[in-house]
Amino acid sequence: MYNNFLKIEDHKESNRIQVIHIGEEALDKLIFPFNKFNITSLEYKPFTRFSLAKSLDEVFENKLSTILLDILNSRKTGTAIIQPEMRNKKIDKDFLVKLSTGLAYLIGIPNFDSMSEKYYARFYVKHQDSSDSYLRKAYTNLDLHTDGTYVKEKTDWLVMTKLEEKNVSGGESVLLHLDDWEHLDDLYKDPIGKENFVWGSPKSKKVDYKVEHPVFSEDKNKKPTISYIDQFPEPKNMKQGLFLQKLSDSLEESKNKITFPLPVGSTIFSNNYFWLHGRKSFKEHTGLSRELLRIRGTFFSNKS
Ligand SMILES: [Fe+2]
Repeated sequence: MYNNFLKIEDHKESNRIQVIHIGEEALDKLIFPFNKFNITSLEYKPFTRFSLAKSLDEVFENKLSTILLDILNSRKTGTAIIQPEMRNKKIDKDFLVKLSTGLAYLIGIPNFDSMSEKYYARFYVKHQDSSDSYLRKAYTNLDLHTDGTYVKEKTDWLVMTKLEEKNVSGGESVLLHLDDWEHLDDLYKDPIGKENFVWGSPKSKKVDYKVEHPVFSEDKNKKPTISYIDQFPEPKNMKQGLFLQKLSDSLEESKNKITFPLPVGSTIFSNNYFWLHGRKSFKEHTGLSRELLRIRGTFFSNKS
């Protein structure tokens, strides 16, 4: 089962990130079951996503789901990178959408993504951008944040898959585990961080309501969790404004951020309560293009 088939090791930048290599032989075994599903049926018939996930697990003797859950739920780790052997020529973008879907449905249920009106979203980062969100702005840093800050649904985890890229230099992935952040104690003890903030979102997100929640909360083991993104909180007084400024500055200046180039075809699968994610800016190129897929959702065990 291990070696050429499935290999798990610490990421070279941090042992908190577990890299799951899917070998050539395993990919070959996935081609046939994945061919039974097409993207339209996956989009229209939710039950097919469960069948797809089951066929993915079966190739790994039904152990992949347990492996993923262990990594995602462990406070020591909390992030997996699933890295298929991309020399395999049969791996195309449809295959990667199916793999990402299977990974997500092995551990939980995706939230409806209002931006795409599907259970997942695909989007490009290109040289030119006229959108209203930092998500697609290639030449600015996408600062460290968590997902789902402006929606009512719980966002326990997120899947981010790099489907394709052209003329890319820079744009590295940036991750930070909350417990590695030098300023956590300082910010966590500030009572303002536990006050409710109002969170809105720009038009492109197609969410027509605002939510209220604090930046910091506590999980069932009394460990701090964070729900934060720079663009969406609407501070209602000076105290809240200055708190958010301090939070933003001290996240960005952290020396413990993990920065690395994510290979094409790979998926970052992160616990959204104690991992923050972001992206460095790209080097300018008129032909720049990166296509990404995202899925966010809740664990099966955390349905309310
Ligand atoms: Fe994000």
